[in-house]
Amino acid sequence: MRQLLPERVEHLDLYAALRPVDLEVPVLRVNMVASADGAATDSAGRSGGLGQAGDLEVFRTLRALADGILVGAGTVRTEGYGPHRVRPDLAARRALDGRELPAAVVVVSRSLDLDFAAPLFARARTPTVVLTCRSAPAERLRLAEAAGRVVVAGDERVDLRAGITRLRQDFGMTHLLCEGGPLLNTEVLGDGLTDELCLTLAPALIGGSGPRIVARFRGKIGLELVSVMEDAGELYLRYRVRGAAP
Ligand SMILES: NC(=O)c1ccc[n+]([C@@H]2O[C@H](COP(=O)([O-])OP(=O)(O)OC[C@H]3O[C@@H](n4cnc5c(N)ncnc54)[C@H](OP(=O)(O)O)[C@@H]3O)[C@@H](O)[C@H]2O)c1
Repeated sequence: MRQLLPERVEHLDLYAALRPVDLEVPVLRVNMVASADGAATDSAGRSGGLGQAGDLEVFRTLRALADGILVGAGTVRTEGYGPHRVRPDLAARRALDGRELPAAVVVVSRSLDLDFAAPLFARARTPTVVLTCRSAPAERLRLAEAAGRVVVAGDERVDLRAGITRLRQDFGMTHLLCEGGPLLNTEVLGDGLTDELCLTLAPALIGGSGPRIVARFRGKIGLELVSVMEDAGELYLRYRVRGAAP
C-alpha cells in the first residue's frame, strides 16, 4: 500500500498512518467500502464482495486501533458478524499502545432480534456489548443481559449521543470505530457524532438501486480530505467530517 496524499510514501506503515496522534482524545471513525458508482453492497446484498485485500488490511488496522466497534443490528444479521480477533502483528502494535485485549463489538439494536448464542456473544474475548433503548422487548432484553453487557440509552430509539457517552464512561471506549451500515451511519453522521470517515473506493461498478454508505440526509455533510492511499487500483480516502449544512 502507498500513500498519494498529503505526501507520497511508498511501502506505507498503515498502523502508523491511521493511528491518531493522541490515543486519549475521543474519536469516532466511520469505515465503509463503496464501488466507484457508490454502491455499498454487491449483487448479493453484502459488502464483503466489494473490497480487495487492501480494504481488508484497512478494516483490520482500524479495528486494531479502536476501543469499541459500533455496528448496526442490520449489518450483524446480514454479514453474519463473528467475534473480533486481532491478527498477532497488529495485536503486538496494539499492546505497545497499552491495549491488551481486542476492542469490543457494540451492536446497536431496538428489536434485539439477535442470536445471543452465536459466537459473536458466546465466544468473544472482550465481551460484546448491546446498545439498546427502553422500548426493547422485555424478554429479548433479558436474553441480552444473560448473554453479556447491555447499555440502555433512550426511549423509543437508542439515543446515540447518550449511548456513546456511556460507552466511554463505563467501558473506556475513547476510540470508537463505526462499521455501518447505512442506517446507523446516517445517525452517527447526521447527529454530528462522527469525526472521520474512512472510505474505500473499490475499482468496480455495481449499478442497481442498492444502498449507499448513508441513507438520506436533510441537507449535506461537508468533508475535508485528509489522506489518500492506494493499493492495486483501490483507493482509501480519509476525510475529516466538517458537519451538517442545510
Ligand atoms: N459497504 C460497507 O462498508 C457496508 C458496511 C456495513 C454494512 N453494509 C451493508 O449494509 C446493509 C445493512 O445496513 P442497514 O442500513 O440495513 O442496517 P444497519 O445500519 O447495519 O442496522 C440498522 C439497525 O440497527 C439498529 N439501529 C440503528 N440505529 C438505531 C437507533 N438509533 N435506535 C435503535 N436501533 C438502531 C436497528 O436494529 P433493530 O432492527 O434490531 O432494532 C436498525 O434496524 C447490509 O446489506 C450490509 O451488507 C455495507
